[in-house]
Amino acid sequence: MTNNQTHVIKEIYSAQTISDRVAELGKEISKDYANLERPVIIGVMKGAFCFLADLVRNIQTKDPLQIEFVRLSSYGSATESSGTVQTPYLELPNISNRHVLVVEDIVDSGRTAKFFLEYLKDQFQPASLKMAVFLDKPSRRAVAVEADYVGFKIEDLFVVGYGLDYAENYRELPFLGQMYL
Ligand code: IMP
Ligand code: MG
Repeated sequence: MTNNQTHVIKEIYSAQTISDRVAELGKEISKDYANLERPVIIGVMKGAFCFLADLVRNIQTKDPLQIEFVRLSSYGSATESSGTVQTPYLELPNISNRHVLVVEDIVDSGRTAKFFLEYLKDQFQPASLKMAVFLDKPSRRAVAVEADYVGFKIEDLFVVGYGLDYAENYRELPFLGQMYL
């Protein structure tokens, strides 16, 4: 248990467990993307920054990867998304007809992921479009969306660390922890 100021945070996945799992996902993605032309990875900020940084260093493909970022957020309280997806940064080069892999921290209600995947389809008609997520909370789903690569499936817990925040805190923790409110 880490008692960080006011919040008790209990480790669920250690840095080592995360690193092992991300290496496995990287292998799987490497196999699927091995011979595709110049894959594009799009990281969704801020939550995916740790996962993306580790994941891309575990991907080997024939062509180099192109890495882009957007920033999306669904404002609401610190632990519940509002359902409205905001797009504070949505600048992308022309990625029409490219093989696109979206990298997200977590699929919770699924609204952010659904919004962004539909946006990319409409805007660019990618040659292929897949999504890799560090975490999946299937029991929370409000809209139908499924990730192609999932690090860990978790119960309906509020988690922080490895990029995930509580009111912009705890993203830097090297492990994933359950936060007790
Ligand atoms: P959505 O509900 O699937 O649209 O998820 C929206 C966003 O809520 C995610 O990208 C995360 O930033 C955030 N989120 C959902 N569950 C958690 C959690 O357990 N901890 C931290 N952030 C979360
Ligand atoms: Mg967040």
